[in-house]
Amino acid sequence: MEYQRISEIMGLDAQDQKVGVRGWVRTFRANRFIALNDGSTQSNLQCVVDFEQMDESILKKINTGTALALEGKLVPSQGKGQSLEIQVESLEVLGESDPESYPIQPKKHSLEFLREKAHLRVRTATFSAIMRIRSVLSFAVHEFFQTKGFVYVNTPIITGSDAEGAGEMFRVSNLDPKNPPLDDDGNIDYKQDFFGKETHLTVSGQLEAETFAMGLGNVYTFGPTFRAENSNTTRHLAEFWMIEPEMAFYQLEDNMDLAEEFIRYVLKKVLDNCSEDLQILDKRLADEDKTKPQNERSPMGLIEKISFVVNNTFKRVSYTEAIDILRQSKPNKKKKFQFPIDAWGADLQSEHERYLVEKHFECPVILYDYPAEIKAFYMRMNPDGKTVRAMDILFPGIGEIVGGSQREERLEVLQERMQAMDVDPEELWWYLDLRRFGSAPHSGFGLGFERLVLFATGMSNIRDVIPFPRTPQNASF
Ligand code: 4AD
Ligand code: MG
Repeated sequence: MEYQRISEIMGLDAQDQKVGVRGWVRTFRANRFIALNDGSTQSNLQCVVDFEQMDESILKKINTGTALALEGKLVPSQGKGQSLEIQVESLEVLGESDPESYPIQPKKHSLEFLREKAHLRVRTATFSAIMRIRSVLSFAVHEFFQTKGFVYVNTPIITGSDAEGAGEMFRVSNLDPKNPPLDDDGNIDYKQDFFGKETHLTVSGQLEAETFAMGLGNVYTFGPTFRAENSNTTRHLAEFWMIEPEMAFYQLEDNMDLAEEFIRYVLKKVLDNCSEDLQILDKRLADEDKTKPQNERSPMGLIEKISFVVNNTFKRVSYTEAIDILRQSKPNKKKKFQFPIDAWGADLQSEHERYLVEKHFECPVILYDYPAEIKAFYMRMNPDGKTVRAMDILFPGIGEIVGGSQREERLEVLQERMQAMDVDPEELWWYLDLRRFGSAPHSGFGLGFERLVLFATGMSNIRDVIPFPRTPQNASF
């Protein structure tokens, strides 16, 4: 027997033809109706067994979670809720599932409960929808850059440099933790470590991507990045995936244009290709919203929200304008912000970003020209000597989704900035070389992939949009 995926079967004309299918039982009703799912689509296939014909011992093994292979006639369905069904002629139990102990029952489970069962949660309607959308988004990322002629580069995971200069790195070492070699000052002697120096998991592939942009023109990375920031929030992971395009000869405005086009393109792909999954998640969000107080409810449904972003341009606002808006804002005057804004130069917290996007502009916002002090060393200094050519894209419900900038291409200015920000020029000799040999204006940005998936799925916790989240105190599975 040839087996077909349920997504294929759903597209057939039911004419009593023989079909074979394999999957997992979502529910089994009245000793007769199996709702089978094989992950190829949100839809379950109804498979009708004739319990009078079937061996009692086999019937008993059909429970939620059981893996089955079956074949039968594909017929138009009499019941409501589906247009076709299989009249089962033969059925084989591939793997039993004990109904008493199988955690994924056909009822509503909390997201917290399912996080504890992350190895099984993909068998639910919500998580299979999220993971299919995640996959469509990944493919769309490559498609977008590939059709524009960008070269995909794989930057190293193990690195000696802290690209963001934030000191939030995980050490990579194979020294004996109980008895590490010490140098004359009593410090751990990393010269004796595997790489002959201190190394870490990368926080960003940007600096290496810049070297490739200076030869290939336009490049992008799409890989895992690691941050040991101890922020236990719904927006932070210790291991997340980042997309980092880097473009030679781009100014900041070109960078913003590309980022905007990119985000719209990948979200449109989700609208065009994931309508069944979006409907499930749209409904989930609406149900979740009903449990919230009026003022915390989302003003738009999921599909509406994605369509809004796809069809509207983002608002571009300088940091200085944003600070004025925030300073004058009601929550600031009424001291409702946890971090009040009183002066130019303040770093923006998530509460400020969300105020700008959700309350003030009510659309995605690109903030640019930030104070140099609160941004990384590699961003291009503006003629005012105070601000840098940075840009962050802020999204409703998410806050920062993209961080990027035009890069400092002038050797002396870069060296000054590195010194001021305590970045070791010896470690980054190769990065400085780019400014010595054929330096050129260039720009790039980083998009946090899970934050994009959060937006596209309407989920509210980043732990629910990556298969196995790594967060403080949690690296199970
Ligand atoms: O703003 P960030 O730190 O920028 C960079 O790493 C630059 N090197 C990017 C570049 O210009 N090539 O991070 C970029 C994005 C953020 O906007 C956010 O979406 C995401 O990465 N991000 C995280 N996502 C999940 N968990 C975390 N801990 C994250 N930290 C950053
Ligand atoms: Mg940032």
